[in-house]
Amino acid sequence: MSKRIENALSFSHELMQKCLQEGDVAVDATAGNGHDTVFLAKHVGQTGKVYSFDIQQQAVEATRERITRCEMAERVVVIHDGHEHMTSYVRVPVRGILFNLGYLPGGDKEIVTRPEKTLKAVRDGLQLLCPQGLMILVVYYGHPGGQEEKEALLCFLRKLDQKQYTVLMYHFVNQHNTPPFLIAIEKNQS
Ligand SMILES: C[S@@+](CC[C@H](N)C(=O)[O-])C[C@H]1O[C@@H](n2cnc3c(N)ncnc32)[C@H](O)[C@@H]1O
Repeated sequence: MSKRIENALSFSHELMQKCLQEGDVAVDATAGNGHDTVFLAKHVGQTGKVYSFDIQQQAVEATRERITRCEMAERVVVIHDGHEHMTSYVRVPVRGILFNLGYLPGGDKEIVTRPEKTLKAVRDGLQLLCPQGLMILVVYYGHPGGQEEKEALLCFLRKLDQKQYTVLMYHFVNQHNTPPFLIAIEKNQS
C-alpha cells in the first residue's frame, strides 16, 4: 500500500512534475544512474531539453544508456563535468533544476557532492531559473561530509530574500536513520 506521506525522493518528483511543461528546459545537476534525467526528459516532452551533469564517467555512461533505452536521447544533453560549471553549458532560462546529493548508488561512496561546489551550482542555478521556476534538492547527509554540506546549504538558504524566493524544507522529525530531506526553492514573480 502506498503511504500518504511520501518520502523526499517521490515528493521531489511530485513537485517538479507540477512545474514542468512540454517544451521547457530542465537541469539534472547530479545525473547518477539517470533515473531523474529520464523523469525530467519525460516531463519536458519531445520539444523540451534536459541538461544532465555528472563528474563520474560511470554515471555519464549509465545515464546515456538509460535515456537511449527510453528513446529520449535527442532531448537530453549529458555533460561529463561538475554542476559548478553549469553556466558554461546552459545559457537559456530554465524551468526546473534537480539535485540529488550524496554518492552514486552502487558506485564509489567516497565520491560525493561537496559543499562549496554544491553552493556554487545552487547560486548559479537560481540565476538561470525563470520566474515560477523550481529548484529541488534531495539532501542525503548520512555519509562522511554530508552533515557539513547540509549545514552549508541551510546557512545559505536561510538568508535568501523571501521576496525573491520561497524556500521549503520537507523532512521527517521522528526518523533517526538520517533519511534524505527535501529543499524546494521557487523563484517568485518580480
Ligand atoms: C545520489 S547520486 C544521483 C542520483 C541520480 N539523480 C539518479 O537518478 O540516479 C549523486 C551523484 O552526484 C554526482 N556528483 C558529485 N559531485 C558532483 C558535481 N560536482 N557535479 C555533478 N555531479 C556530481 C556523483 O558522481 C553521483 O553520481
